[in-house]
Amino acid sequence: MWLKLPALLSLGLRWGLRAAPQRWQPPLSIPRRKLSAGMEEEAKRKAGYMAVDNHVQDNQTLGIGSGSTIVYAVDRIAKRVQEENLKLVCVPTSFQARQLILQHQLTLSDLDRHPELDVAIDGADEVDSDLNLIKGGGGCLTQEKIVAACAKEFIVVADYRKDSKSLGEKWKKGVPIEVIPMAYVPVTKAIAAKFGGAAELRMAVNKAGPVVTDNGNFILDWKFDNISDWKNVNIDIKMIPGVVETGLFIGMAERVYFGLEDGSVCFRDRCSH
Ligand code: 5RP
Repeated sequence: MWLKLPALLSLGLRWGLRAAPQRWQPPLSIPRRKLSAGMEEEAKRKAGYMAVDNHVQDNQTLGIGSGSTIVYAVDRIAKRVQEENLKLVCVPTSFQARQLILQHQLTLSDLDRHPELDVAIDGADEVDSDLNLIKGGGGCLTQEKIVAACAKEFIVVADYRKDSKSLGEKWKKGVPIEVIPMAYVPVTKAIAAKFGGAAELRMAVNKAGPVVTDNGNFILDWKFDNISDWKNVNIDIKMIPGVVETGLFIGMAERVYFGLEDGSVCFRDRCSH
């Protein structure tokens, strides 16, 4: 049977006969932006998978973080539950985390029933060399901190863009601070007066007005200058009336898994001082 030229060409395309390998030029056909987005997702996936494989065991209670990286960790948890018949109980850190747990048909619980967790796994916006974190890019910092504080082990999953020497080097959006709505102006002023920089009310996208957290509060994003004593700054901010919680997670993470650009994963442990 003879095939016409267009049919032959289309078969050739489907069988990968279009071009010799050396003629394939990814930057021409795939924008750089897309290539790096693909690399970032792969880095997140690998970090999430490795954290779950190294820290999750049968009969554990887990804290489930929020954000885009944790989605990969939850995928892996669900797969292991199916394959290994693990008995796990999951406590969410946000509405998003609750949905993730339910969508993956994992066992949902809360801190009333499980106030002590074996492991909490969560993402971060930035990680410094001492494993201090900025969190709350997704606005879930308060519940994330409560859940992390209830866990024997707090494990963070991130991609290479989050790894920095000192906070603020990579994450430019500021430290998220959850505040009671009526206090957002006095808190904004108090932060600028005590520590400098500027705290701005986080505005919603696709909704008029500010972001409202899962707890019914507002978020300030504090763009700071020249801060190094994060432990005391965190304590001092928390003392301002109206502040619910800060996105500074100081001395909480035991280990951070970073997915790297080359497809490998490395981890960093907290030094015990
Ligand atoms: C949400 C968080 C997230 O864990 C943090 O923003 C990281 O998110 P992603 O994994 O999407 O980069 O703190 O409040």
